[in-house]
Amino acid sequence: MRRLATTVLGGLMLAGTAQAEVAGDAENGRKLSGQCRTCHGANGYAQVPIAPHIGGEPASYLAAQLTAFREGTREHEMMTVVAKMLTDDQIADLAAWYSSQTATATLTADPSGAPEQCVACHGVDGIAVIENAPNLAGETNIYIDTQLKAFKRGKRTHEIMSAIAADMTDEEIRAAADWYSEVQLEITEPGS
Ligand code: HEC
Ligand code: HEC
Repeated sequence: MRRLATTVLGGLMLAGTAQAEVAGDAENGRKLSGQCRTCHGANGYAQVPIAPHIGGEPASYLAAQLTAFREGTREHEMMTVVAKMLTDDQIADLAAWYSSQTATATLTADPSGAPEQCVACHGVDGIAVIENAPNLAGETNIYIDTQLKAFKRGKRTHEIMSAIAADMTDEEIRAAADWYSEVQLEITEPGS
């Protein structure tokens, strides 16, 4: 028992160290973001409908996703290729750059229509209210729909989201995707 406890604790401490390394160099990340701008924009406001907005997302979330694409636990024909070329430091720097942006959502619909099972983490307007969760505001409904179906079918896994998506019907997925995609999102660079 004692050995088990030590092993678990060691694992937690390692995880804690990995988290701390996320503190990357935002200025270097800005330079590296030249490789990302055709799809995600210089400040993380997506330029093509299939790519998500990433400006203003938590650094921990961005770094975790880039690492997942690199390791193959999340797959996408474009992002897998991009992420394979990134070192841990570059991932940390890119995460620092994009997370230094500010995402502002404007809700035009009646807030009472927000999907109830999502607001505790993703907010009524799609700006995440817990650490490590992504913003959904202004993502295209196709992107949100695709991700929920990926969680549902096990193509993408996450302890919380896989369980939530597993219980959703295609109609519920579409309704949640439509709600968040209709929110207007603005991303502003630091200092502007
Ligand atoms: C050719 C277009 C393209 C380029 C270039 C590109 N991406 Fe992506 N990116 C995508 C697409 C498409 C997705 C959505 C993948 C999916 O559907 O799972 C994505 C997803 C992501 C995600 C996950 C976001 C989320 O909300 O889960 C991150 C983080 C990301 N990209 C960062 C980057 C960074 C950093 C770069 C530059 C080093 C980059 N991307 C370059 C197209 C691109
Ligand atoms: C208890 C908190 C929690 C709840 C409730 C929750 N989510 Fe999530 N969601 C998360 C976390 C954490 C992630 C990041 C998953 C990862 O790291 O892969 C996430 C990721 C997502 C993503 C992927 C976004 C992207 O940028 O790739 C979508 C889409 C999503 N959630 C939609 C929903 C919807 C719709 C609901 C309601 C039906 C919901 N979530 C409820 C915590 C939550």
